[in-house]
Amino acid sequence: MPTPLLFTPLTMRGVVAPNRAVLSPMVQFRATDGLVNDFHLVHLGKFALGKFGVVFTENCAVEPRGRVTQGDLGLWDDGQIASHKRLTTLLKAEGSVAATQITHSGRKGSTPRTFDKPGALGPEGAGWQRWEVVGPTDQPAAEGWLKPRALSATEIEGLVTKFADAARRADAAGYDVVEIHAAHGYLLAQFLSPISNTRNDIYGGDCAGRMRFPLDVARAVRAALPANKALFVRVSAVDGAGGWDVADTVVFAAALKELGVDVVDCSSGGLTGAATAAGVTRSPGFQVPFAAAVRRQAGVASMAVGLILDGPQAEAILRAGDADLIAIGRQALYEPFWPLHAAQALGCDPDWTMWTPEYGWWLEKREHTLGRK
Ligand SMILES: Cc1cc2nc3c(=O)[nH]c(=O)nc-3n(C[C@H](O)[C@H](O)[C@H](O)COP(=O)(O)O)c2cc1C
Repeated sequence: MPTPLLFTPLTMRGVVAPNRAVLSPMVQFRATDGLVNDFHLVHLGKFALGKFGVVFTENCAVEPRGRVTQGDLGLWDDGQIASHKRLTTLLKAEGSVAATQITHSGRKGSTPRTFDKPGALGPEGAGWQRWEVVGPTDQPAAEGWLKPRALSATEIEGLVTKFADAARRADAAGYDVVEIHAAHGYLLAQFLSPISNTRNDIYGGDCAGRMRFPLDVARAVRAALPANKALFVRVSAVDGAGGWDVADTVVFAAALKELGVDVVDCSSGGLTGAATAAGVTRSPGFQVPFAAAVRRQAGVASMAVGLILDGPQAEAILRAGDADLIAIGRQALYEPFWPLHAAQALGCDPDWTMWTPEYGWWLEKREHTLGRK
């Protein structure tokens, strides 16, 4: 049988993803001072053993104020590079492309973890503190959220440099893919949507004005990365609040492509509250039409994400030409070896040779014992 598209390598500049399965960025709230620790090695190492072609870290803040919670990873200080290097070394040794996401939370910073009890801020007894949050204006994300301080134009320019510096650290740490987080209502998404960005300076107003800061970030990050490394941008194709829609996303994606962005990662929602309260109806593959629109109308490679559950579903998306890469989030928490299971479901690993041989040899023998081979 022909190799499924899911298991066909994808070349992005000098980066070759051995297959199209991508571990989606998922924050774990387990870091101290933004450093990668043993938990992150085990957590992310599993997905490399599971043969995800690309393994993303969670969102890494470009400055401490840009964390969502105090337990997020960071790339704001050179002293953090060595901890990330341990992780990229592990991921690459198992054959995955090491990828990271750089972010600023803006007005959605200093929040409790998604599962904290009302009124609690982080793990009990850990002494997590609130900090000042910033945004395009002083409007909070929703009622009850922290009131941000509006950023000055000079501060915005400074943040462009911070994104570029974080990308430089990501490169030094050995990541081959860097993704700019411009989705889920975090700072760059706050600038894109007219609902959250009511500024009347050069960073606000019409679509071009609202795109200025995110595009400045993309330009600076591209310049900070070596030409052979790949740059992704995650977008909320619709902001979930009625301010930014797919047509805007296509214009933004085309501009990103011009700046040398290799893949647009198509998520949605999150502008006016928690990322989990996205304001977008969810069903299997619900965001695939966004990846398809970006790929076809902006002519840039796209990544689909959101309730993609198994190999046949992923393969159908790729075969339809709706996306170039498939990101798996929660299903990977349930099934860390998702790509290997997908290969079984698609019938392309009959001898279990995709597995690390310490596992695959035994599993193949077990098939004989069970009379399946
Ligand atoms: C535990 C958890 C943490 C997440 N953290 C991030 C993150 O750091 N950055 C991001 O862009 N999306 C984050 N997301 C969103 C996922 O990357 C993904 O887009 C979303 O879960 C939908 O895909 P799924 O249906 O396969 O889970 C997170 C999702 C989960 C479940």
